[in-house]
Amino acid sequence: MNEMAPTREQRTAALEGMGCKRKRVEDIRFTQGRGSYVDDLKLPGMLHGDFVRSPHAHARVKSINSEAALKVPGVLAVITAETLKTVNLAWMPTLAGDVQMVLADGKVLFQNQEVAFVVATDRYAADDGVTKVVVEYEPLPVIIDPFKAMDKDAPVLREDLAGKTAGAHGPRKHHNHIFEWTVGDKDLTDAAFRKAEVTIKEMISYHRTHPSPLETCQCVCSFDKVKGELTIWGTFQAPHVIRTVVSLIAKLPEQKIHVISPDIGGGFGNKVGAYPGYICAAVASIVTGKPVKWVEDRIENLTATSFARDYHMTTEIASTSEGRVTGLRVHVLADHGAFDACADPSKWPAGFFNIVTGSYDFPTAHLTVDGIYSNKAPGGVAYRCSFRVTEAAYCIERAMDILAQKLKMDPAELRLKNFIKPEQFPYHSALGWEYDSGNYHTAMRKMMESVKYAELRQEQADKRAAFKRGETREIMGIGVSFFTEIVGAGPSKNCDILGIAMFDSCEIRMHPTGAGIARVGSKSQGQGHETTWAQIIATEIGIPADNIMVEEGNTDTAPYGLGTYGSRSTPVAGAAIAMAARKIKAKAQMIAAYKLEVHEDDLEWDIDGFRVKGLPEKTMSMKDICWAAYNSVPPGMEPGLEAVSYYDPPNMTYPFGAYICVMDIDVDTGVYKVRRFYALDDCGTRINPMIIEGQVHGGLTEAFAIAMGQEIRYDDEGNVVTGSFMDFFMPTAVETPHWETDFTVTPSPHHPIGAKGVGESPNVGGVPAFSNAVNDAFSFLGATHIQMPHDFWRNWKAAKDLGVFA
Ligand code: CDP
Repeated sequence: MNEMAPTREQRTAALEGMGCKRKRVEDIRFTQGRGSYVDDLKLPGMLHGDFVRSPHAHARVKSINSEAALKVPGVLAVITAETLKTVNLAWMPTLAGDVQMVLADGKVLFQNQEVAFVVATDRYAADDGVTKVVVEYEPLPVIIDPFKAMDKDAPVLREDLAGKTAGAHGPRKHHNHIFEWTVGDKDLTDAAFRKAEVTIKEMISYHRTHPSPLETCQCVCSFDKVKGELTIWGTFQAPHVIRTVVSLIAKLPEQKIHVISPDIGGGFGNKVGAYPGYICAAVASIVTGKPVKWVEDRIENLTATSFARDYHMTTEIASTSEGRVTGLRVHVLADHGAFDACADPSKWPAGFFNIVTGSYDFPTAHLTVDGIYSNKAPGGVAYRCSFRVTEAAYCIERAMDILAQKLKMDPAELRLKNFIKPEQFPYHSALGWEYDSGNYHTAMRKMMESVKYAELRQEQADKRAAFKRGETREIMGIGVSFFTEIVGAGPSKNCDILGIAMFDSCEIRMHPTGAGIARVGSKSQGQGHETTWAQIIATEIGIPADNIMVEEGNTDTAPYGLGTYGSRSTPVAGAAIAMAARKIKAKAQMIAAYKLEVHEDDLEWDIDGFRVKGLPEKTMSMKDICWAAYNSVPPGMEPGLEAVSYYDPPNMTYPFGAYICVMDIDVDTGVYKVRRFYALDDCGTRINPMIIEGQVHGGLTEAFAIAMGQEIRYDDEGNVVTGSFMDFFMPTAVETPHWETDFTVTPSPHHPIGAKGVGESPNVGGVPAFSNAVNDAFSFLGATHIQMPHDFWRNWKAAKDLGVFA
């Protein structure tokens, strides 16, 4: 009996390609506890390392005595800066062109800085050894407040830079100054301000926070003395870059270094850079000839590995009295901590902060960023962010609300009035970017209609009247945020890391039975690449996603890639995947033409194979072509079906979104309730709507954390007072609000499948929505700008300062 042939819909659905809510294939192992993380690795004879860390934020190290530590049973070695000097590794280069102590060399510059590395047969012995190392310190004056770093009499932090009047990014104007970065037209901007009918000026701070992934930073290093090969398993977001960096600084031939990133439990920018733990574990393995494991604990992760933000943005907008913006002026004081270890593409000392004109058509703008040193941990990484876009979006979105308040205009209306119009794309911003595509008005109006914006404002007016009459102690805030992201670092013309262009890559190898493997230069830390990359290939070459295995993170097998951070995977690696798949398809077409005895041009693509134009019954499926590729290719053609693509994007992609937060705050306690949070995202072509929703939920939760309480705080002596999850706000399902998600689709015109990144968007747009809601709530009591984070205490304090209890 003849079976019914599958319909076109059934054939398409069977592929589980782009647009399908395909279930995450990686979850099969994760939900069964079968993931394989660095700390799961147990090698024969493996040793463990742990750090002696500085209790002081700034101190001279007078002496280090390891005698007692070496007597602890199991302790084999104590490595100090003196040991590292013998192999020229006491200092290491940072991604930002600075140098950083691996272990304290003469002084310490932040609390919990690494001072010595104790190596032992197990972790407990290493910890015991740590407590027995005696370090003599002479405390020095500290700088915690960035606004005091460039005072005339400020203590000299970086004695190694004495006499250096220039750094990696130009002249230094003070001994604690790192760089000054300027973009835009100063004269035109000054002129716009002179002519302005209305101006606003506010110092908008984005406090210091931390990516705090569930799994901390860690590695296992194993040096094979016979082969002279070093294998490193680590929590690396960019494994190939780590291989190159290790080769350059350890002077080992790159082919003898094998870097493997196994499953990673969250990165959020924290696992991009190189840390002293990696160097010490590698040196310890070379010295002992045994594998050495280093696993950070939570306090170490929060206090010593890369922080995020600490940007203090003095922001001015010039406008007409009708609310048409005419100029933007921003000065940023950027606190980079003790070493400039920002993870940015080389030419961008303040990342992509010059996206600060946001979604608005500013005719002119001028930006200056001063980077400074302080006695805080180094970093400045893109925590769920694309190189300072999060800071930029917060800056402009708060400033637009402040302008609306001054003009007595509705903040949504002010935004609609100043948006870049659809016909202006590709749009050249005053600070140098070319926005690829956007339809901001449609997104904003969809958001306003979905949440019934006008009704919310009426409700707020009624509540304010009731508050004034003394009938309620609750104030209602409506936080509008409209952001434009810049993701997909990036085009080789302006993006590199240590001189390596920021392309990405994919290699696809099809097997005879119609299955295949795709190896990609990106590295998932939970974003679901194994699921979505197979979906791109499924749509491109008509092989079910289930038949494509995706592999990332092994530098021996994956083609060279620049890794995953800043939502660059879909814009760059995603494009490489589509391009590699298209190469497969092109060869497949030649094979099909040969087998079907027609000219290639007589074939057309049809879901999962080729068919002869005008003869729809004459077909050859991709599955059959795979088989033919291994036994009957056209004469002169090489057998096999594989392709590799290295993709250098022509431009970044510019996702955008319209968010709104509705919040009630009790003025007597400062307790807030997020009543509603609606997030509309436009990330161009959507590969997997379910994964996108998951990304948005996660990013919004991190935005909620940052805006409403998450902070790395120091006391005046440089002690970290938020060094554990007891003090550092980590929201659970109990506190996290309910998220409503929505979307529009404006494809990227230059990306092969029209997709833009999405992972960072909800954090970029979410933080201003929360902060604008709090500020909007307090605005009718006379507030202009209340700094984040908006925890209960600060809300109560704001109410008190505004005279609510008088
Ligand atoms: O670089 P990273 O993976 O962090 O960010 P991304 O490129 O924004 O991708 C995050 C996840 O969302 C990946 O699994 C993507 O494939 C998925 N995604 C999607 O399904 N459609 C898009 N237009 C963008 C991302």
